[in-house]
Amino acid sequence: MSTLHTIVVIVHLIGFATLFGGWVVEAFSQRGITKVMQWGLVIALVAGLALSAPWDLGYEPNYMKIGVKLLVVIVIGALLGIGGARQKRNGSVPAGLFWPIGILTVLNVCLALLWH
Ligand code: HEM
Repeated sequence: MSTLHTIVVIVHLIGFATLFGGWVVEAFSQRGITKVMQWGLVIALVAGLALSAPWDLGYEPNYMKIGVKLLVVIVIGALLGIGGARQKRNGSVPAGLFWPIGILTVLNVCLALLWH
């Protein structure tokens, strides 16, 4: 059970790396929204929800922290959605939609690792 849990944590981190890596590449180039970022978010979200199930690991999940991380991911998803639509219409993403995606992703790593 705990090996499976570790594998799901790895998938979760691959999702985070895909989202953040895709965003960093864009921060140094077009500052747009890409499929890589969208897939990264979906992978991190699905694996995160799976990790939130009761795994019987001997400790209670911090549901307050999980709830806050979920809220932050919903905001990132909204920024990707609205930013992607603007990009289709105008050919670019407003800075106010692009930069918070990376900042909120880093915020979620901080929440994951600093909030015990
Ligand atoms: C961009 C979004 C996210 C990032 C960057 C992120 C980051 C991380 C990191 C770095 C860990 C490993 C921490 C550790 O092993 O102590 C982790 C674990 C975890 N995350 Fe996320 N996360 C994100 C979204 C979510 C979402 C949306 C959920 C749930 C709805 C979630 C639920 C969890 C859970 C339950 C764990 C495992 C805790 C454990 O049992 O060890 N995460 N996350």
